[in-house]
Amino acid sequence: MAKPDILMLTPMRPLVEKTLAQHVTLHRFWDAPDKEKLLSDVGPRITGIVSFVASCPRSLIEKLPKLEIIATSAVGYDGIDVKAAAERGIVVTNTPDVLTDEVADLTLGLLLATVREIPRAEKYLRDGQWPKGPYHLTATLRGRKAGIIGLGRIGKAIAERLEGFGTQISYHGRRKQADVAYPYFPSVAELAKAVDVLIAIMPGGADTKHLIGAAEFEALGPNGIFINVARGSVVDETALIAALKSGKILAAGLDVFENEPNVPAELIALPNTVLLPHVASASVYTRDEMAQLAVDNLLAWLAGKPPLTPVPETPSPR
Ligand code: GLV
Ligand code: GLV
Repeated sequence: MAKPDILMLTPMRPLVEKTLAQHVTLHRFWDAPDKEKLLSDVGPRITGIVSFVASCPRSLIEKLPKLEIIATSAVGYDGIDVKAAAERGIVVTNTPDVLTDEVADLTLGLLLATVREIPRAEKYLRDGQWPKGPYHLTATLRGRKAGIIGLGRIGKAIAERLEGFGTQISYHGRRKQADVAYPYFPSVAELAKAVDVLIAIMPGGADTKHLIGAAEFEALGPNGIFINVARGSVVDETALIAALKSGKILAAGLDVFENEPNVPAELIALPNTVLLPHVASASVYTRDEMAQLAVDNLLAWLAGKPPLTPVPETPSPR
């Protein structure tokens, strides 16, 4: 029997090609010299897509009439048109749980780096400034209250860590969670008003686009720290830059941006930002766990079994 044809949209961890090679014929979309030709040649035979965080629009799904499964190696799947997939009965799988602790760890690192200016202090030393005098004193995490937007698996892991730092926690999400004791705020602005650290870790996509903007930064106030480990789309970046420039908020730590990998020069120029290139899950260990789960989802499906971690918008027919 011919091996199933699978489209690989992005480069992935080596284990993906190594493991899949025995079971499927992989077509590397990202480095195909002529993508349209690849699609017209093999598109009609493709039954599965595998990718790292990627964009998978309706226009691509439409070119793959036999597509059954899209296995992404990421927890967020806002780049995949799940509505287009659901209409065709195509299953989308993501990689929850395996990255939860890694992302929560990085979030705390980013928060501390932002509040205590760790990158700038280190640069001060490397630049030979220390002999000229001590680095200036910074803000503190002591006594701060944190508001988490999106108290899902990762949000809860961040909250657990923050408790260890003695930080009071509140949250906002689509709904109040009955089994959660932290105070709930029905809007981001109300949450921002009540705290001085605002952490975004909700899903991206249309529902959360620009949920945080000028009014929310105004509410957060001049001592406020904003941390984004969600998606760039959840914040109005222009409003964020304005708030950072004018001192409406104190500082921001950002792992995600509206137009990755391009980061606005204005953000880079601001001294009160810590900027990371979307690395919250980016350890070898965790990226391998994610890649393996994506592979396991795909192989389960190809073996006629239910996928392990389908997203709720595209329930598995098996
Ligand atoms: C991550 O999951 C990757 O494949 O790089
Ligand atoms: C990374 O951003 C992910 O969604 O896993």
